[in-house]
Amino acid sequence: MDTPIETIIILDFGSQYTQLIARRVRELNIYSRVVPYNLAVAEIERLAPAGMILSGGPASVYNSEAPQCDPTLFGLGIPVLGICYGLQLMVYHLDGEVASSSRREFGHAMLDRAVDTDLLDGLPEQQRVWMSHGDKVLSLPPGFTTIATTSNSEFAAIANIEAKLFGLQFHPEVAHTEYGTDILRNFCRSISSCHGTWTMASFIDQSVREIREQVKDDQVILGLSGGVDSSVAAALLHKAIGAQLSSIFVNNGLVREGEPEAVRRMFGNAFAMNLDYVDATDRFLKPLVGVIDPEEKRKIIGHEFIAVFEEEARKFEKARFLGQGTTYPDVIESVSIDGNPSALIKSHHNVGGLPEIMQLELVEPLRNLFKDEVREVGRQLGLSQEVVMRQPFPGPGLAVRIIGEVTPERLTVLRQADKIVIQIMKETGHYYKVWQSFAVLLPVQSVGVMGDERTYENTIAIRIVESLDGMTADWSHIPYEILGHISNRIINEVRGVNRVCYDISSKPPSTIEWE
Ligand code: XMP
Repeated sequence: MDTPIETIIILDFGSQYTQLIARRVRELNIYSRVVPYNLAVAEIERLAPAGMILSGGPASVYNSEAPQCDPTLFGLGIPVLGICYGLQLMVYHLDGEVASSSRREFGHAMLDRAVDTDLLDGLPEQQRVWMSHGDKVLSLPPGFTTIATTSNSEFAAIANIEAKLFGLQFHPEVAHTEYGTDILRNFCRSISSCHGTWTMASFIDQSVREIREQVKDDQVILGLSGGVDSSVAAALLHKAIGAQLSSIFVNNGLVREGEPEAVRRMFGNAFAMNLDYVDATDRFLKPLVGVIDPEEKRKIIGHEFIAVFEEEARKFEKARFLGQGTTYPDVIESVSIDGNPSALIKSHHNVGGLPEIMQLELVEPLRNLFKDEVREVGRQLGLSQEVVMRQPFPGPGLAVRIIGEVTPERLTVLRQADKIVIQIMKETGHYYKVWQSFAVLLPVQSVGVMGDERTYENTIAIRIVESLDGMTADWSHIPYEILGHISNRIINEVRGVNRVCYDISSKPPSTIEWE
């Protein structure tokens, strides 16, 4: 049996920063897991974490609805770091005093070290930290001392050194806290005795062993979309079980120029993977004839995808497993406190009830990884930069970027325009800096002149956005020269387009996609 991975668990009290704490810990090469704040102590002991971090949260500890953890948590002998609400909760449960305050302290503060401790070891006497809290500690529980102060708070950092219980009123996980990473490193390494050996290479080794253990001699099928997650999942499963994996690529006729060929080259040829390529273009385009309602389009495409995939999957009679590229943000349990969910779960375009219908068991080797970790795994498995750094692409594909009816002719126009956008974004180095950059075909014709002739043709909108997670987004202030270049090339090269516009709306209130 493998030695258990050194793990830091993060109890989620609903902070917007919970996932960020988890990522920061992983950047220290230490595995971290987000768990709900009320996870039973027996379960926590079973996980045997090296240390525990209590996240911040929007609640006030005195509120009757405030999320509480089991106070026996503090007596397990496992080091604890309470951040913001986590600190207040610790003080409250261990018989200190916390006062609710109507005024929030928000923004930068200067932290002064008061006592030498492992937590602040190696850090300057003074550092800038980021505060964001309402409640305030009034008096410390027995056994605790102040280890750092700010002008506004005599309890900015506290500790019961003997019991390895620490609390920070500020947020070490945000970039505004100058030495936040060092504080987290001290907590994980010096205080919780983690060695920091968790790397993507070690993850791959471990994952390969686990996949083999789970799958044994059975067969796995996987829906390959060409996107980052399913590509990396396929490469990892292939490394683990080789020919026991069969990937199914459904060409729904709504994909980008060159996409099916690229997937076949990469996985069919370079990786020599069993690849079942299905050209189902007609099955998708026929029911879309005359459909202009966006939801209707999405339903038709989603429904047809499941039907096609299921038919294909049935050809693999011996398959017992369904591989999926589910990632950590998809599965992380969301805590919603005061209507402030720490992690919103996005609905996924996947194969819905297929596992039940076909009695397939899921294999989800990426379910504990964040996106940047998934990309790194992909790189280490030999996937190209083109694949691992690919921008998100919606399941319903170009259909939701053609406003109005989807026809083969309109698909051709959009595909050509989209290809130019991608090409120029890549050439100028902007493709990898933005969240998404694409073309949308509008159902708007307008007058133009080409040579001596008057034209009456289509409009393309360009959408380029910056975002961290797709939940909110800003339109990108891309240089005018690049926009000009995109516009010139589209109008000159794509027949049927005589006007190009740039979308300058942010999300919210707009969305990234137009449909
Ligand atoms: P919106 O348009 O809602 O998009 O602002 C947010 C992000 O999600 C992507 N998106 C989808 N991804 N299936 C997907 O896998 C879908 O049906 C879908 N719809 C939108 C979109 O490209 C953006 O990154």
